[in-house]
Amino acid sequence: MIKYSYLLVITFFTFTLATAQNDIKDNEINKKIDSIISLLTLEEKVAMCHAQSKFSTKGVERLGIPEIWMSDGPHGVRAEISWDSWDYAGWTNDSITAFPALTCLAASFNPNLSAQFGKSIGEEALYREKDVLLGPGVNIYRTPLNGRNFEYLGEDPHLASKMVVPYIKNVQKNNVAACVKHFALNNQEHWRSTINVEVSDRALHEIYLPAFKAAVQDAKVWAVMGAYNKFRGQYTTHHELLTNKILKGDWEYDGVVISDWSSAHDTMEAALNGLDMEMGTGTDGLGTTTSNHYDYYYLASPFLKAIKNGNIEESVVDDKVRRILRLMFRTTLKPNRGFGSVNTKAHHDVARKVAQEGIVLLKNENNFFPIEDKEGVTIAVIGENATRSMTAGGGSSELKPQFEISPLEGLKQRYKKAKIIHAMGYHTGPSVYDNIIPSKLNQDSLRVEAIETAKKADIVLYVGGLNKSHLQDCEGDDRQSYELPYNQKEFISELKTVNPNLGMLLVTGNAVETPWLDKVNGLIQTWYLGSMAGHAIADVVSGDINPSGKLPFSFPKQLKDNGAHFYGELSYPGDGVNQYYKEDILVGYRWFDTKKIEPQYAFGYGLSYSNFDLSDIESNTNKFNTDDSIKISCKVSNIGNVDGAEVVQVYVGKKKSKVKRALKELKGFEKVTLKSGTSKTIDIDIPVSSLAFYNEGKSDWEIEKGEYIIYVGNASNNITKKIKVKIQ
Ligand code: GLC
Repeated sequence: MIKYSYLLVITFFTFTLATAQNDIKDNEINKKIDSIISLLTLEEKVAMCHAQSKFSTKGVERLGIPEIWMSDGPHGVRAEISWDSWDYAGWTNDSITAFPALTCLAASFNPNLSAQFGKSIGEEALYREKDVLLGPGVNIYRTPLNGRNFEYLGEDPHLASKMVVPYIKNVQKNNVAACVKHFALNNQEHWRSTINVEVSDRALHEIYLPAFKAAVQDAKVWAVMGAYNKFRGQYTTHHELLTNKILKGDWEYDGVVISDWSSAHDTMEAALNGLDMEMGTGTDGLGTTTSNHYDYYYLASPFLKAIKNGNIEESVVDDKVRRILRLMFRTTLKPNRGFGSVNTKAHHDVARKVAQEGIVLLKNENNFFPIEDKEGVTIAVIGENATRSMTAGGGSSELKPQFEISPLEGLKQRYKKAKIIHAMGYHTGPSVYDNIIPSKLNQDSLRVEAIETAKKADIVLYVGGLNKSHLQDCEGDDRQSYELPYNQKEFISELKTVNPNLGMLLVTGNAVETPWLDKVNGLIQTWYLGSMAGHAIADVVSGDINPSGKLPFSFPKQLKDNGAHFYGELSYPGDGVNQYYKEDILVGYRWFDTKKIEPQYAFGYGLSYSNFDLSDIESNTNKFNTDDSIKISCKVSNIGNVDGAEVVQVYVGKKKSKVKRALKELKGFEKVTLKSGTSKTIDIDIPVSSLAFYNEGKSDWEIEKGEYIIYVGNASNNITKKIKVKIQ
């Protein structure tokens, strides 16, 4: 046996050396994988298909096959978790760069930035010796109440698809697997572990799957995470239609499917419906017990027994192991894998750049922003969110950053002439890094102090919004109301009363109700920006950076204006068992446009300190065949006196159609950076194939012939020109 294993180890390392010249093609890796599988015992194969600890799976020691290590999350590498409990391990060498949450990345409308984001976070994951980074999340923003929207890429499938691909490609260039999640239809946190989603095939394929499809087919993602919820009565983590038919069948996905933590529920389904790596299951199935007897996992001893007694073919476990070994050859077994890096200036610069480009200027009456740094001027920075950590909390995507510059800190460092004063205004309870003990804080005195502070100032900058605590922007449940919490509406009015020169920074990952909007002269959406939050906020507030972000989701004026809420409880959040996506394909601006409901702020909207003009908008021709590409050219001019960037957006609609259609749908965009007084003509290509609708009768895509309208503008509700074209 020893001789034999030496031979194996030599073979193994010969192979490893050989791949160093990268001269082994996939098919040769597949041959090697098959040869390794033939050497594994059934017990060893089954053991590779489920967790051995909270965030790792077994290898095969006798053959030198390594373990696989995973870590959250989508906007930073999470602090080390204990081997067999959800407690943090208490390491002192696992602090990292906290990048902006992905809603901010989406708001940048800049795929090049997404590439830089992926490269940087991939380097940090590699440095932290993780083989799988459990992100990005791409679930579509269906309701503003979803606790995890801040982690995702907004309401539009085209934007999410275009922004997710560079991120994944560049994470994986570090020989670390990205893991796109949560596949699929996890569009709320309320009842997430059990709710059964009912939605049409058309909405599934046109709205909820495209970003996953792009991750698989364009980015070649190496891992996909199943979701907690059910779809048409079956758990999505091991789903016949979603996992077997669509993901591994139609899309020809060759990577691994990893469960969400305790989202597996049945051995036969997990085995036969495409789950490859079961994580986080508690023996009581709830995933919360610390007594995770890994042998009792669905893909552990019950799976082994089912194979042994002939109920499941051994080829089923072989396919899982083949995928797991392929994951290893792409990551932990990749020769010259590199060492990565963490907390570097380069990463901090990327985090700051993404934040700068994702921040959205929503309102700017009388040019309230930018605020000049002037001698003799006092600026009162008011609000708990001016100092509260926003990398803490939020659930599994929470982070332990090496540092986190708060909005107050960033403004204090930037403003050298003006005087910055601060008052908290209210305290909502300790965040992880907050050493204030609530009992020592009297809410009334906090409020009085803030009002007095505001009175003394020339300018008041209120930093409000949500935070990452339970029932706000946080995993595990949704917000229970659309309005701002902690009586902020009244507080904003009180501030306005004592000082009319009031502006606001809105720290959220979601839309909120804005009945206080008339009270603020300027309003900036600042997201959850991570380590460099305060610097990026000060960059924009001071005018060092001209904001160029655009909303990746709509702000309804009131919750019932939103499509998911229009149809009542059965649509959102459901009745506790089922929920029905009755708005169907009309998600977000598709709903507002088609139902002619004006949102407070529209998808794609964002102001600048400059002004831009779109002109000379043309299509290369007006008649197209189905395999053509529509080329839209547009001249963009910066007619203001500040350098900046504009996002040209191209939407397409079809008035006369044999199927229900949204008025228009985003099919192309480009961000154009221009010095003041300069212009540039850009071309945006729209493949005619991207205009196809999903024909439910044929269970396939179909391009409908006839007349279409191309809408070109700088927001979904600000269209400069419409062009009629014909598909023949
Ligand atoms: C959580 C999340 C998932 C995360 C996993 C591990 O429940 O749904 O996004 O990656 O468990 O923390």
